[in-house]
Amino acid sequence: MAETILITGGAGFIGSHVVDVVLAKEPACRVVVLDSLSYSGFLGNLVQHTDNPRFTFVQGDIQDGPLVEDLFQQHQPTRVYHLAAESHVDKSIVAPLAFVNTNVVGTATLLNACLKHWDKSAYTHNRFLHVSTDEVYGALGPEGQFTETTAYDPRSPYSASKAGSDHLVRAYYHTYGLPTIVTNCSNNYGPRQHPEKLIPLVISNLLEGKPLPVYGKGTNVRDWLWVTEHAQALHLVAAQGTPGETYLIGGNNERSNLEVVHMLCAIADDVLGKDPGTSQKLIHYVTDRPGHDFRYALDTQKIAAHLGWQPTLAFADGLRQTFNWYLHNPEWLAAVKSGEYASWYELQYGARPAFQP
Ligand code: NAD
Ligand code: TYD
Repeated sequence: MAETILITGGAGFIGSHVVDVVLAKEPACRVVVLDSLSYSGFLGNLVQHTDNPRFTFVQGDIQDGPLVEDLFQQHQPTRVYHLAAESHVDKSIVAPLAFVNTNVVGTATLLNACLKHWDKSAYTHNRFLHVSTDEVYGALGPEGQFTETTAYDPRSPYSASKAGSDHLVRAYYHTYGLPTIVTNCSNNYGPRQHPEKLIPLVISNLLEGKPLPVYGKGTNVRDWLWVTEHAQALHLVAAQGTPGETYLIGGNNERSNLEVVHMLCAIADDVLGKDPGTSQKLIHYVTDRPGHDFRYALDTQKIAAHLGWQPTLAFADGLRQTFNWYLHNPEWLAAVKSGEYASWYELQYGARPAFQP
């Protein structure tokens, strides 16, 4: 029987790129996506696969034990790539419980299903790949990098909930021998990212001529990785990584937020035929995010040395591709911002969080 990979959160940003990579690279594999289609999940992200007989979509919540149980019975996945999550720091500041429920309880529900359905004799082949974030390691000053052995120090409800799920995943490896692997990645960018996040928010506002909100002074630093390169790294880690291990995945591409916004403004001026410097006038400094982590940076030598992976796409090229994707997909942006797929703050609070204008 063809091998089946369960991809949770496959209708989201990174998950949909992982589906693309797996279906393209593994012609014998079936892919089952489990996604609740929360505000950040969009079936349109998977429309390119709807006619593929090797692709199945299941709408459901990862916390729903009986539903997960049925899915394992019916599809018998031998590998799980777990990406379903509440993923936005700002939302976690105003609605932390949703993060505990999905990220911690949901992860435990999936781990329990693997324990129940996977025979120990198949553990050499089975994999539970847990996709996590570099934010679990806390915040860096201007110097230094996180490594796989840096002590956890999460500072937002988002990163705390991801840290909790990482600990659970490792506990299932140590306690039950479940073949789990954890990856911690830096900030992703590229097509299909929800416009609540910095890069698509800035692009969307540039396209509409709206103010570009920069938190604080814009000096906070993030390491940016092209989403397809992350998706390829995840598939590689699942196939060739060692159970019980952790792999950091990063772009070796640190930028201050202001630098990113300036680059996007220059791209917008160029692509939209405006005088250089026009778009920068839209930059609007707003009240900082509470507890805003200053800097993240990763030492990615382990994945390079053990699995031969390293990022290659130049940031300037990736940003331009991203800008052009949003420019040429206005229906996607409109759908994401409207009705059933409206942003969480509009759905729940009727406005942006208090620390924004
Ligand atoms: P996303 O918000 O775009 O997608 C999350 C997906 O999970 C959505 O499709 C959503 O509908 C689904 N989902 C949410 N709650 C669910 C639930 N209870 N049951 C089933 N499905 C549910 O997020 P993303 O940016 O694609 O991130 C994917 C994963 O990668 C997350 O685990 C995140 O922590 C991790 N990660 C993200 C980044 C980044 O820069 N975006 C970096 C490192 C790690
Ligand atoms: P974000 O995309 O939310 O990712 P994360 O907080 O997980 O790193 O934010 C990236 C950086 O951009 C972060 O330092 C916060 C900042 N930011 C702004 O300055 N303005 C905004 O409107 C948003 C959403 C983020």
